[in-house]
Amino acid sequence: MTLYRATVLDTPSDPFEDGPEALRAEHDGGLLVRDGVIAARGRFADVAAAHPGEEVVDLREGILLPGMVDTHVHFPQVRAIGGLGMPLLDWLDRCALPEETRLVNRTYAEEVAGEFVDGLVRAGTTTALVFGSHFPEAVDALFAEAERVGLRITSGLVVSDRILPEPLLTTPEAALAHGRALLETWHGRGRLRYAVTPRFSLSSSEPMLDACAELLAARDDVWFTSHLNENTAEIEEVARLFPGAGHYLDSYDRHGLVTPRSVLAHNVHPTGHELEVLARAGAAVAHCPTSNCALGSGLFPFAEHLTAGVRVALGSDVGAGTGFSLLKEGLQAYFVQRLLGPRGVALGPAALLHLATRSGALALGLGDDVGDLSVGKQFDAVWVRPQPGSTLDVVLRHPADATDALAKIFTLGTPGDVAVVWVAGRAVSSAPQPVPPSLPLEAA
Ligand code: GUN
Ligand code: ZN
Repeated sequence: MTLYRATVLDTPSDPFEDGPEALRAEHDGGLLVRDGVIAARGRFADVAAAHPGEEVVDLREGILLPGMVDTHVHFPQVRAIGGLGMPLLDWLDRCALPEETRLVNRTYAEEVAGEFVDGLVRAGTTTALVFGSHFPEAVDALFAEAERVGLRITSGLVVSDRILPEPLLTTPEAALAHGRALLETWHGRGRLRYAVTPRFSLSSSEPMLDACAELLAARDDVWFTSHLNENTAEIEEVARLFPGAGHYLDSYDRHGLVTPRSVLAHNVHPTGHELEVLARAGAAVAHCPTSNCALGSGLFPFAEHLTAGVRVALGSDVGAGTGFSLLKEGLQAYFVQRLLGPRGVALGPAALLHLATRSGALALGLGDDVGDLSVGKQFDAVWVRPQPGSTLDVVLRHPADATDALAKIFTLGTPGDVAVVWVAGRAVSSAPQPVPPSLPLEAA
């Protein structure tokens, strides 16, 4: 067993119900980890006294958070990050889709899979719902790399049968056959799971969505993900292509694709009825703030989602999003709500941490396993230890309290400040460095 000694911040309860009190702070805490699971938790002195002789890892020179959960990120778009200045459909044509066609080559796909998984780890993301590739071999390469590194990844073959460049298209029959083969190989293997993934209904015919429904119905633990209500031009085109659908969400819902196992990305421009349907179904929305800003998609109506009772988590949406860090996504979510003035939701530090961790775990049906650092949960954790002398390092030495420390981490933290990442108790980045004892969270 290993006893981690740290200041621990997490949000096991919901800040949208409990307010700032939802932030749980353990100053000089102890987390005892056995076989990757948190076996005991409390003040370090108490846990150490109850479990003498255990190996102690001293993490007091930083702050320990739960591993981040990214509910929307595109594997084949790592090298497309940074395509600024275009709305969604132009960006797809000029940046994303040309890059995605290159993944037809297995060697290229393996290289990108390495870069992608590494990007997640460096950002402190331990669990992700990943938009895969249109090519089965590339999806296979992603699962293999995620398995090698040990991340919790839910992903699948992206399918489309219209509008996109020809090399990215398939048929409903081939989509079903390839999806089934990938599902049988990878779903339930270690920490990997399968997600049925039509790119968006704009690029998916009714027979293709039927094929998706057939694959989804084959198992009760397979996930569903796609895009929804991201951009006004996209929404108009979907309305034209699905004249029988009441709204964008209905293009999925009438095929049985909106369930508690569905995560729909963006939803920047929902109707009231769509929010009702999402809430009733128990489906979740992946809010992708840097992407929404970079593409000019719009300002996310968070309050409307909360009022309707729709579950919301965070997604980086790499490569329209501007990087893998959910700290940056949290800060951008905060900015957007500020800009909405009285219509915005005040996202305090506890809400940001919940969005980046427990909300995501719940959206992915993994709330019993990950998302916070309670006893019985997997030890999926991130040690934020700022680069010595960096502004984050300086300001974290003088926080007013735990909420203030967390605000500083969301404001200034980058992947460069993520020192160690654990999944199920195993470090998936460099080992902790010996550090001098000090308590950075003690009030100044
Ligand atoms: N809608 C369909 N495909 C995509 C994509 O790759 N990125 C984003 N942001 N929206 C999409
Ligand atoms: Zn996306």
